[in-house]
Amino acid sequence: MGPYPSRRISSWLDEGALKKEARTSLLTSTNLQSMEKQKKADSLNLVQFRGIVKRFGDVVAVEKIDLDIEEGSLVTLLGPSGCGKTTLLRMLAGLENPSEGDILVKGKRINDTPVHKRNLGMIFQNYALFPHKSIFDNVAFGLKYRSISKSEIKTKVTKALEMVRLPGVEDRMPAQLSGGQQQRIAMARAIVIEPDVLLMDEPLSALDENLREEMRREVDNLQQELGVTTIFVTHDQREALSMSDKIVVMKDGVKQQEGAPEEVYNKPVNHFVADFLGHSNFVTGEVVGNDANLTHVKLKDDSFITVETDENWKVGDPAEIVFRAQKIILETKSTATPKENDNIFSGVIKDRSYMGGEASYFIELEAGNTFHAINMVKSIPYQKGDKVQVRVSPRHCRLLFPES
Ligand SMILES: Nc1ncnc2c1ncn2[C@@H]1O[C@H](COP(=O)(O)OP(=O)(O)O)[C@@H](O)[C@H]1O
Ligand SMILES: [Mg+2]
Repeated sequence: MGPYPSRRISSWLDEGALKKEARTSLLTSTNLQSMEKQKKADSLNLVQFRGIVKRFGDVVAVEKIDLDIEEGSLVTLLGPSGCGKTTLLRMLAGLENPSEGDILVKGKRINDTPVHKRNLGMIFQNYALFPHKSIFDNVAFGLKYRSISKSEIKTKVTKALEMVRLPGVEDRMPAQLSGGQQQRIAMARAIVIEPDVLLMDEPLSALDENLREEMRREVDNLQQELGVTTIFVTHDQREALSMSDKIVVMKDGVKQQEGAPEEVYNKPVNHFVADFLGHSNFVTGEVVGNDANLTHVKLKDDSFITVETDENWKVGDPAEIVFRAQKIILETKSTATPKENDNIFSGVIKDRSYMGGEASYFIELEAGNTFHAINMVKSIPYQKGDKVQVRVSPRHCRLLFPES
C-alpha cells in the first residue's frame, strides 16, 4: 500500500455510478479531503512547478504554470492535443529547458540537473517493449547505464517483476505475454530504477477501447500499490476521471483548473472545462433576481432558469448556465411530478441514439434552444417526434461568467 491510501474513485468509469456519486457525499468529502491536504501541504509536495513558461520561437507552449504534485499521488494533465502537456512533462524530465520559472523536486531546484541524474521513470505512448529482447533484458534496460553489479541487477529485476505481480517471467519474450502483462512489464521497467516520479505520456492512447479500460485499471492499481508519485498525461477525460487524485485541465498552455476529479467535474470554473469533461448544455442570459440560495436568470429566448448557488450574483450580471446531459429528466406530461423550483421546458425529441441501457436525446424546445439529454432507459426509449417535458433541478445547474 502506498503512502496515499485515501483515493478510490474507480467507479467514475461507470456513468451510472458517476451520477450517483455526484449526487451524494462528494462535496463534503472533497472539502474534508482538501482541508486535510492543506494541512500537510508543503512538506509533501514532491514536485513543484513555479511560474513555468516554455516558448518555441513565437509559440508559447506553456504559459506561467504553477503546480504542486503531492508525494504518492497520481496527477493527470488533461487537455486537447497541443495544449502543452508533453512539453511540461519533458521539462520535468530534463528533455527541454524552461524559458522561465523553476522546477523543484523534493524542494531542490533541478533546472540545471542533467536528465540522467533526475531519477525519473518514463513510459510513453505504446509503452514499447523491445520485441526481440527477453523480459529480463527489457526490465534491466533502465539499469544499464548505472554502475551496478550483475547480481544487483538480477536482484532488482526480480523484485520489480514481483512488484508488478509477474514473478518468474524473465526468460519470456514480450509477444508471449498478454497486453495487460506487457503494460505491467513496462511499469516494471520504469520502476526498477526506483524513480522519484513516474512520468506517463498517453501510454494507452494507441490501444483499442476494451484493452484501454483494462490497462487503466492496471496502471491505477499498480500506482496505488507501489505508491509511486505519478504524472499521467492524457487527452481522454474518462481516463483522467477514473484514476486521478488530481486533474489539471490545460488549454493553450494555460492551466484552467486543478482539483479532485469530482471537483473539476461538478464545479468547472469555465466553459472550456465544463465542455471538455462530460456532455454539457450551455445557455446564456442575464440575472434577474435572487432569493436565498437561488438565482434566477432570463435567457436569450425569454424563458427563465433557476440556479442554486452559494455565489453572489447580482441582478443585471450576464451569465452562462451549464448543466450535464445526464441531469436532465425527460417525462411525458402525464408522468411528471415536478418539485418546487425545478426548471421545466416543453420540447420535441428531434434525434435520439440508443446506447444500450441508456439513450442520448436531442430535444428541441418550444422556445428555441436544443438540449442534449442522456437518460437511463427504463422501459421503452422515447422516439423521434415524441413530445416531452424537460426537467432540470436548480441544484444541477451551475453559473459561469460568460466568456467574450
Ligand atoms: N520542439 C518544438 N518546436 C516547436 N514547437 C513545439 C515543439 N514542441 C512542441 N511544440 C508546440 O508546443 C505546443 C504544445 O505542444 P505539446 O506539449 O506537444 O502539446 P500536447 O502534448 O498537449 O499535445 C504545440 O503548439 C506544439 O506545436
Ligand atoms: Mg503530447
